[in-house]
Amino acid sequence: VDRDTVVLVPAAGRGERLGAGVPKALCLLAGEPLLRHAVRRIAAARSVAAVVVAVPADQVDAVRALLGDLAVAVTVVAGGATRQASVGAALAAAPPALPIVLVHDAARCLAPTDLVDTVADAVRSGQDAVVPVLPVLDTVKAVDPDGVVVATVDRAPLRAVQTPQGFQRSVLVAAHAAADPTDDPTDDAGMVERLGTAVRTVSGSEEAFKVTRPIDLVLAEALLARTLAGPP
Ligand code: CTP
Ligand code: MG
Repeated sequence: VDRDTVVLVPAAGRGERLGAGVPKALCLLAGEPLLRHAVRRIAAARSVAAVVVAVPADQVDAVRALLGDLAVAVTVVAGGATRQASVGAALAAAPPALPIVLVHDAARCLAPTDLVDTVADAVRSGQDAVVPVLPVLDTVKAVDPDGVVVATVDRAPLRAVQTPQGFQRSVLVAAHAAADPTDDPTDDAGMVERLGTAVRTVSGSEEAFKVTRPIDLVLAEALLARTLAGPP
């Protein structure tokens, strides 16, 4: 396939739940910044022609230097106050000729290269919007404001949603144009659903988990140590 895909990487969050004292994207994992792990894996995908990263405004120059040697065209822009604003800033800087747009959280820094191509392939085959999903493992309950259980939710139709999420470029552009700027949806497919566009699912990856809490760094370090050690 020709390289027809641009990946937008929102990486402008503060990482408050991680509490590392530096922006999460610059947090070190096995000696390498989290954002570089993420972009290296994206750059290796056969579909990907370009990557646009949105980072905190005071980190733009540092991140350009950090990612300048990767084997793909990387554009670095300043992100916004919300994830939606950061994705919007990256979308505005994406090369307009590429018809497939993926959005991938920098925080899902160990998402495998294969998953990027699986999502891009599904969009290329004609889907408007594609998200990777996994079954929900825990029992889920609804509670009232006092914390009393109101109902046990049927888990069977529920899915936990990951990134990269893939879109026909026109679909994502329309969703951002229609979005309420005061809103802060946690994913991009949600904005597309509101337009009435069908969102398809593909199998996600356990390695595409989001580094959110300190314990997630422990898991990420362990996975990287296993990879470096090679197969048993
Ligand atoms: N993100 C962004 N711009 C924002 C907020 C979030 O680009 N204003 C990005 C984050 O950098 C991250 C992804 O969106 O890659 C998912 O967000 P999350 O995991 O919530 O990261 P943070 O917002 O940094 O973390 P926290 O909510 O704990 O502060
Ligand atoms: Mg956040």
